[in-house]
Amino acid sequence: MKNIDSYTHVRGESIYLDDIPVVNGTLYAAAYDSPVAHGKIISLDISAAAAMPGVVRILTAADIPGENQIGGIIPDEELLAATYVHFCGMPIALVIAETDEAARAALKKIKVVIDPLPVITDPREAKEKNELIIPPRTFLLGDTSTAWEQCDLIIEGRADTNGQEHLYIETQGAYAVPQENGALRIYSSTQGPTAVQRTAARVLGLSMHHIEVDTTRLGGGFGGKEDQATTWGVMVALAAHLLKRPVKYCLHRMEDMRMTGKRHPYSADFKIGLNKELKILAYEVTFYQNAGAAADLSPAVMERTLFHCTNSYFIPHVKATAYSCKTNLPPNTAFRGFGGPQGMFVIEAAIAKAAEQLGVPAATIQAKNLLQTGDAFPYGQLADSEANECWQQADALFNITAQQKAITDFNASTSSYKKGMAIMPICFGISFTKTLMNQARALVHVYTDGSVGISTGAVEMGQGVNTKMLQVAEQIFSIAPSRIKINSTNTYRIANTSPTAASAAADLNGKATEMACHEILLRLKEVAAAELQVAPASIELKNETVYANGIATSLDWKKLVLTAYVQRVNLSAHGHYTPAGIHYDASIEKGHPFTYHVYGTSITSVTIDCLRGTYTVDAVNVVHDFGRSMNTLLDTGQCEGGIVQGIGWMTMEEIVYDTAGKLRSNALSTYKVPDIYSAPKHITIHPLNTTKDNLALLRSKAVGEPPLMYGIGAYFALRNAVKAFNPTADIPFATPLTPEKVLMGLYDGGVIK
Ligand code: MTE
Ligand code: MOS
Repeated sequence: MKNIDSYTHVRGESIYLDDIPVVNGTLYAAAYDSPVAHGKIISLDISAAAAMPGVVRILTAADIPGENQIGGIIPDEELLAATYVHFCGMPIALVIAETDEAARAALKKIKVVIDPLPVITDPREAKEKNELIIPPRTFLLGDTSTAWEQCDLIIEGRADTNGQEHLYIETQGAYAVPQENGALRIYSSTQGPTAVQRTAARVLGLSMHHIEVDTTRLGGGFGGKEDQATTWGVMVALAAHLLKRPVKYCLHRMEDMRMTGKRHPYSADFKIGLNKELKILAYEVTFYQNAGAAADLSPAVMERTLFHCTNSYFIPHVKATAYSCKTNLPPNTAFRGFGGPQGMFVIEAAIAKAAEQLGVPAATIQAKNLLQTGDAFPYGQLADSEANECWQQADALFNITAQQKAITDFNASTSSYKKGMAIMPICFGISFTKTLMNQARALVHVYTDGSVGISTGAVEMGQGVNTKMLQVAEQIFSIAPSRIKINSTNTYRIANTSPTAASAAADLNGKATEMACHEILLRLKEVAAAELQVAPASIELKNETVYANGIATSLDWKKLVLTAYVQRVNLSAHGHYTPAGIHYDASIEKGHPFTYHVYGTSITSVTIDCLRGTYTVDAVNVVHDFGRSMNTLLDTGQCEGGIVQGIGWMTMEEIVYDTAGKLRSNALSTYKVPDIYSAPKHITIHPLNTTKDNLALLRSKAVGEPPLMYGIGAYFALRNAVKAFNPTADIPFATPLTPEKVLMGLYDGGVIK
């Protein structure tokens, strides 16, 4: 089934935040943000700005009726800076004006004097100064201290990954409309409507039941609107609450880039030990996460880095430590993969370095160490592994040896261009790592005309979760999809939602929808059984027709629904789902945090221009573990999008903050994302079809984040291509590997061929 939004998307009719018809009297907000990365506010002069035409009011921390606090995991982040600023881009004041233009014009008249304090941008420096968001955590398996003796090769190194701008097409934004009795409706472009509701209540000093958050869809979130949409939702709520008028704020692109956090940059030190058979026996890694100036989701992101630090390999002795380092950058946040990709890059770097030292292809080491079913992850869960199956199918379909030989032959034939290849196996755990967040609810109404309305906690952000929800109801009721409508995500209809994140939205909300639909179906079957005078168990609904003992009857869906209504049968149900069997004990760092894992193997090949350093990604060929995909179009689309986004992170997307903490890559002229010309020429996604009875929705495994990690293969393929030109090139394990850095690598050591 096509994405149910595709029709309105291509006609430009889909409603995003900025498309919501504005109510008469709507005011516009704009935030004045700190020009300094760290300091004490000495004075704030808003008088000139307040006198500007159209300005209604300028709000500062002193105007907040409740708590000036938006921190989710840790209460360490003010909505508006009161005395200290902790990053460039930290909101200090909020201008409210009659128009968007008037609000932004007034911003320029605000004067602030800030006494500067020392600025830290480097996570290692923050760690040295003990500036940590939370205490460090360590995952242990076996005993690395004794394992080194058994190793024939021990390699140490450092690996760094840079951040990544989310670059959702729709920037952050929110619109608050006052309701009667002091209540508020907030339209928010958020992945987490409940987070907006909870935080608005806290900042305004209201109860959550006063605040309705409504989200139709996002023009992309990618993690950037899991926590950081809250800021803007709460700002407009504050203004609307105080002024008793509707208030809207849609950020301009440069405001969004400057004020919001990104994927966490990481720096890491690794040590890896192998024996003669190329088995990895021991791995030690220390991660320095650049958290930015407040916790945001950093502790959870750091946790997932540890969970995925051994990627899809079994290593008997592991010691992995992570530090969440506080720096004066905007608080970094969730981004597709949620710390997992950063962890995986380091183990791949360690393997690549060991392979180079040994003179064997990295693939030989990778293949020998893939997880087998029953192997333990460092956190104690046992793998139900598809790692070998994915690898072997990829080899069978795409012939690794033949591809490698073709590349070697090509490279021997010319020195103007070089090709490189890399294999990237992935393993990604599905579930929120915080066990309690793994719950979801759905509300299903069947109307008397046979149409169906569904509300869940899932937020549609382009990934197609609404289509999957619709498919669930379509299959259970066996009715035409046109009878089903998926409603906006709304905190009055569905309470206490977990954000749409962790790739788990379809599983959690889909299973809740399944439960609610089954409940209604059961009631309908009883009505049909009584009407037809057969046992309920002999009733079946197929293509809108009621079957009794396998024989079609004259009772159809519409008649059945109406009959049930006349008999005063409840045609609504509320499903509540929590996956069974997950638990985690952080005091020993062991447990079973994931319902299941998603596996896959990609083969990436690239060509570099040895004169210019420019490159193309020729092909990404993948065998991906979809389980049994419930929607091949959507799931393939998620793979393709994830791969291109992952390649962007690894190759061309370069975030630059200067040492004063100012974002230099602050617009699309200086921050490059892949366009259609820099996307791989070919992407082939081959499904590994499995039908294991796992906790995936209709056995169709979660797909949102895992494919991003195939993008990591691009870095290693490029590295191999550079090495084919200049075998002694010293290419740091540091991303992104931009064309400039490729060029430096090609001629490192003065090699000119
Ligand atoms: N796909 C699109 N088109 N837009 C997005 O914002 N976000 C990704 C992924 N795919 C995203 C996307 C992220 S970060 C997550 S966690 C999942 O979708 C969330 O949706 P799911 O749980 O329904 O997979
Ligand atoms: Mo996705 S990073 O879990 O929103």
